[in-house]
Amino acid sequence: MHELRRGAEVPDALAPYLDVDRSRPRHECWVAGHMVAGLDGTAAVGGRVGSLSTGPDQALFRRMRQLADIVLVGAETVRREGYGPVRLAEEAQEWRRVRGLSPTPPLAVVSRSLNLDWDAAVFREAPADARTHVITCAAADSQRLARAEGVATVVMAGDERVEPEAALRALAGLGRRVVLCEGGPTWLGELVAADRLDELCLSLSPLMGGDPLPVAVTPPGAGLAEFDLMGAMSEEHTLFLRYERKVRQPT
Ligand SMILES: NC(=O)c1ccc[n+]([C@@H]2O[C@H](COP(=O)([O-])OP(=O)(O)OC[C@H]3O[C@@H](n4cnc5c(N)ncnc54)[C@H](OP(=O)(O)O)[C@@H]3O)[C@@H](O)[C@H]2O)c1
Repeated sequence: MHELRRGAEVPDALAPYLDVDRSRPRHECWVAGHMVAGLDGTAAVGGRVGSLSTGPDQALFRRMRQLADIVLVGAETVRREGYGPVRLAEEAQEWRRVRGLSPTPPLAVVSRSLNLDWDAAVFREAPADARTHVITCAAADSQRLARAEGVATVVMAGDERVEPEAALRALAGLGRRVVLCEGGPTWLGELVAADRLDELCLSLSPLMGGDPLPVAVTPPGAGLAEFDLMGAMSEEHTLFLRYERKVRQPT
């Protein structure tokens, strides 16, 4: 047991996340989750994340997208949170340009129903070099699929449902090797169950009493996934924890 003491001030909260080597993932791409939870593990308050996220967490949330080749999110989060395309500060865009990346990463929405607003900003206002992706499966409605194809890059990854492995293989094939998943809990749980979550950046907000929705909802029968704590920071009573999937050494 070690006591965690308040250490030196971190001048740039994003710097420890930028320093992580994500170039050697266990599979085709590195998947980092970024979530905020209350002290009781709740992932939403009144169906939205808003009042759960403190000022420091909101600031980090916006900036974390800088390191992503693509931002992956479940459709219910897009519907509830009214997601738009990713927007980054000018310096963040320049950081990406220097590294040969598009100035902003595209968003990828996972959906079987394709019950999405195709006129929404998330599709219509995405820049041409970061077109929003829709990841779906063969069971999707053909008319909705045609609408999706008109405004987004459609990725087929499974028959009756989106298979996480197929989705991530397809994204890696498109050159997206660092995938930042912003939830929601259902889709994140699918990634955990498929053992595809390499990193979890978890902000702990100092409150309790939100919705009975944990940060990840794994499907029944999924085993436990173990993680190592790699970093911890705090600001204004919000705790920023960074975990990586425990890698078992061969015996
Ligand atoms: N605390 C946080 O950091 C955080 C982050 C994000 C969201 N949230 C909160 O979480 C809630 C939404 O999360 P949620 O868990 O209900 O939903 P979600 O994970 O955002 O989205 C679930 C939807 O994604 C699609 N999906 C998921 N797995 C799929 C699969 N294997 N194949 C095909 N489609 C799949 C389905 O879309 P279709 O229904 O379109 O088929 C499903 O209904 C909101 O209250 C939001 O505020 C919190």
